[in-house]
Amino acid sequence: MTDLFSSYQLKDVTLRNRIAIPPMCQYMAQDGFVNDWHKAHYASLARGGSGLVIVEATGVAPEGRITPNCLGIWNDAQAEKLREIAAEIKAAGAVPGIQIAHAGRKASANIPWEGDDHISIDDPRAWQSIGPSAIAFGGDLPRVPIEMTIDDIKRVQQDFVAAARRALDAGFEWLELHFAHGYLAQSFTSSHSNHRTDEYGGSFENRSRFTRETLAAVREVWPENLPLTARFGVIEYDGKDEETLSESIQLVKAWREIGLDMLSVSVGFTIPETHIPWGPAFLGPIAERVRNEAKIPVSSAWGFGAPTLADQAIRSEQLDLAMIGRAHLENPNWPYHAAKELAKSDPAWVLPPPYAHWLSRYKSLS
Ligand SMILES: Cc1cc2nc3c(=O)[nH]c(=O)nc-3n(C[C@H](O)[C@H](O)[C@H](O)COP(=O)(O)O)c2cc1C
Repeated sequence: MTDLFSSYQLKDVTLRNRIAIPPMCQYMAQDGFVNDWHKAHYASLARGGSGLVIVEATGVAPEGRITPNCLGIWNDAQAEKLREIAAEIKAAGAVPGIQIAHAGRKASANIPWEGDDHISIDDPRAWQSIGPSAIAFGGDLPRVPIEMTIDDIKRVQQDFVAAARRALDAGFEWLELHFAHGYLAQSFTSSHSNHRTDEYGGSFENRSRFTRETLAAVREVWPENLPLTARFGVIEYDGKDEETLSESIQLVKAWREIGLDMLSVSVGFTIPETHIPWGPAFLGPIAERVRNEAKIPVSSAWGFGAPTLADQAIRSEQLDLAMIGRAHLENPNWPYHAAKELAKSDPAWVLPPPYAHWLSRYKSLS
């Protein structure tokens, strides 16, 4: 039976198990560049034994970063430094993935532990954000974005394409388009944030055009034999959930036809006022529905950090991959912890030999 430690093949890429580390911003970059923090962080995560490590949201354009300290891939010099991260992840036996992103109207924010709110516009670190319409997110992110012109839309789509090319050249083998969490692409699809009257607004067909075109353009440059995935909030928990979910599933089907290989199922986070039913593995049934109805492999995060929950989600075919985020910040060797808890034989051997040998050899002493 397929379980958390079964290998997984998608296109020509094989993961050693079904444990994936979702993108998690570190807010440690300067000018978008990788530094020693990122090198140590990603090497340590990959050595922990997961099958896939997805590098954090990486801006396709300077104005697309969430904060001034987010990673970027809008120039070749940044990609050259990201090459080292991809190589570290691969050397540790995991598949190197990256999430390319544009934060839209949520951009230009303070890093979370310095407020998580919009940087004051008169602060030299701030920049003007852009979005589908001149509508602010609200709450701690009150800045009204500039409504994008058609030229802006085409430019950002080409930024995604250029970022995909750079990611491929840098050695990444798994690409995730950040279409989720109220950032630019998600804000195009939502009627909360998109009040346009041109072909990018109005009907759901029009509101989702940005994502369909972006995906199609990226698919042209991202090789057919490597996984092209997206993260998308299929539900908002804003009271219109069945409607949003069924529209989302239609959209995911359209993406699948365009060439999407897997969906990372998440929440929209397009407006501050929602009633999200936080709890362990709460998105599991939603992900399962997307998997069955859109007929596409799925992953999901949010509270799968208890090994039995992650394992059960794989065994019951709710998920193809379990995304384990914060539990990896707590313990970068989470797969070893999971292997022990799930009573796998030789659990230490999910780790590299310099750790596994000793943990295995002296286990009777502990
Ligand atoms: C520090 C941190 C940074 C995050 N950065 C991103 C990101 O760059 N892109 C993204 O799609 N989600 C991001 N998320 C959400 C995670 O990918 C994940 O969905 C979330 O942590 C829930 O999964 P978990 O319960 O396993 O931690 C971030 C979460 C954390 C804790």
